[in-house]
Amino acid sequence: MNYRPLGRTGWKVSDISFGAWAIGGFWGHVSEQDALATLHKAIDCGVNFIDTADVYGDGRSERLIARIGKERKEQIMVATKAGRRLPKQTVAGYSRTNLAGWIEDSLRNLNTEAIDLLQLHCPPTDLYDHAEVFSALDDFVKQGKLRFYGVSVEKVEEALKAIEYPNVQSVQIIFNCFRLKPAKEFFPRAKAKKVGILARVPLASGMLTGKLGRDSTFPKDDHRNFNRHGEMFDVGETFSGVDYELGLQAVDGLSRLVPAGVSMTQFALRWILMFDAVTCAIPGGKRPDQVADNCRASDLPPLTPEAMAAVECIYDEKIRPSIHSRW
Ligand SMILES: NC(=O)c1ccc[n+]([C@@H]2O[C@H](COP(=O)([O-])OP(=O)(O)OC[C@H]3O[C@@H](n4cnc5c(N)ncnc54)[C@H](OP(=O)(O)O)[C@@H]3O)[C@@H](O)[C@H]2O)c1
Repeated sequence: MNYRPLGRTGWKVSDISFGAWAIGGFWGHVSEQDALATLHKAIDCGVNFIDTADVYGDGRSERLIARIGKERKEQIMVATKAGRRLPKQTVAGYSRTNLAGWIEDSLRNLNTEAIDLLQLHCPPTDLYDHAEVFSALDDFVKQGKLRFYGVSVEKVEEALKAIEYPNVQSVQIIFNCFRLKPAKEFFPRAKAKKVGILARVPLASGMLTGKLGRDSTFPKDDHRNFNRHGEMFDVGETFSGVDYELGLQAVDGLSRLVPAGVSMTQFALRWILMFDAVTCAIPGGKRPDQVADNCRASDLPPLTPEAMAAVECIYDEKIRPSIHSRW
């Protein structure tokens, strides 16, 4: 496992880290035993950074991470998120009072005195014009409730606005072979400002593992079943917003670029790590074998310039027309 600096925090985090959404909820049932074994495996593989949110399984994901923290001696940095408990996303909802309440809940769930990194959880675009929200976060840092804060965003324009606030340490954004826009339009600015980048949905909700087909089915309580068209939250979070059939066609093209001895999954993750502005990818996982497969991407040799160019061609042909202008 390799490690990269996260913004100006002074931390060095595993370039393949772990996304703990699926062990919370909305991905079909994951037993407590599987969730804990998956987290243990991640730490065994050298993962030292975990992304979660207060709403993942209504605190379940945070509580599982707290349990693992007790069972392991390694230092693990935990990034959680706040804001999605609001019944409706409004700027006013991100009030000091609401933030304080969500922070207290996460502190309790994580069984800690201070949250390592709190991220605003895809707030409305207008929020970035409201400096008072960031002043409130600065005060929570001063009070010792937060060590650092950052944001999770849907769109590149939000990422660019967020990093104008000097104490934003990290931006979490969808970045994978189906989402190339951040690389050219956001990464250079983030790098110049030493802001960490967490590449979320790195496997396009599993599609970039190459295991999905036209006949794949998903459980009722899996967002790949119930949010295909953005019924519950931003459609970009499900298969990165790419039409299922189009995604399969693109994966077919990508699979031809995968070198011998490397899995499609590892190729997709190694592609992300080719961008030095990225701090880490945060693939989700439900079982130890998935995490082990994902972590192996960290130690693979760089992809060739030809492979990098070919990914861009597939993106331009299959994905760009329906995706590039939206996020
Ligand atoms: N708004 C936000 O801030 C936001 C939104 C989305 C995600 N996130 C964060 O980003 C993290 C990653 O995104 P994600 O979990 O949505 O999607 P992802 O990482 O692209 O896909 C994860 C899923 O792919 C499958 N998978 C993982 N590794 C595999 C392997 N080696 N082989 C085969 N299948 C594998 C698993 O599901 P199956 O086995 O069921 O296929 C797993 O749950 C989340 O966990 C969360 O921490 C944040």
